[in-house]
Amino acid sequence: MIQETLITTVNAQGVSHIAPMGVLIEADQYVILPYKPNLTLNNILETHSAVINYTDDVRVFAGTLTGRRDWPLLVAENVKGFYLANTLAHTELTLTHVQDDAVRPKLFCNAVHSVNHKPFQGFNRAQHAVLEAAILLSRSGNLQWKQITSELETLRRLLEKTAGDREREAWAWLMGSFEQVRLSRAG
Ligand SMILES: Cc1cc2nc3c(=O)[nH]c(=O)nc-3n(C[C@H](O)[C@H](O)[C@H](O)COP(=O)(O)O)c2cc1C
Repeated sequence: MIQETLITTVNAQGVSHIAPMGVLIEADQYVILPYKPNLTLNNILETHSAVINYTDDVRVFAGTLTGRRDWPLLVAENVKGFYLANTLAHTELTLTHVQDDAVRPKLFCNAVHSVNHKPFQGFNRAQHAVLEAAILLSRSGNLQWKQITSELETLRRLLEKTAGDREREAWAWLMGSFEQVRLSRAG
């Protein structure tokens, strides 16, 4: 199963980075699948560590994709790195081996420490809509504008029915970036 998470990493100098990333959970291993080129990939290869953050605050997904990268972090306990201060749970990972690939290498990791900070509150369709819109934005370079607007219309209906303030704020950030995509294509 692939879980949509936020991966926090640091480079050799300790500079932190946050990126939304799918993690494949296979038996007792966690597999991170970054498309090259990728800062998360570089950092994990440098430090052999990463942290998975499980959060329902979709502003962090939308924010990191739209240039809002300054989210409060706390120091990880067992690996070099940080976790998101408002995450529901986090898992600290060490890299065991890499299956290299020209496009999308596989980084196999072991969990060395996991903490539950807050209870999971249940599924929310607006959060799902924001996640899908964020994925659409990250792939917009490969998609026709017509397909993007059609998918956004469907997602907008989910958002309008069930969103809270955080989901509406995240959606607005994403729509700002889609507008930039539209303008860059019109020009
Ligand atoms: C929910 C979600 C899941 C994503 N999963 C991946 C992924 O598995 N691999 C990847 O390379 N990029 C993924 N992306 C896109 C990256 O987060 C985005 O391109 C990021 O800026 C690239 O990573 P970097 O900042 O570490 O270079 C995902 C984006 C979203 C919104």
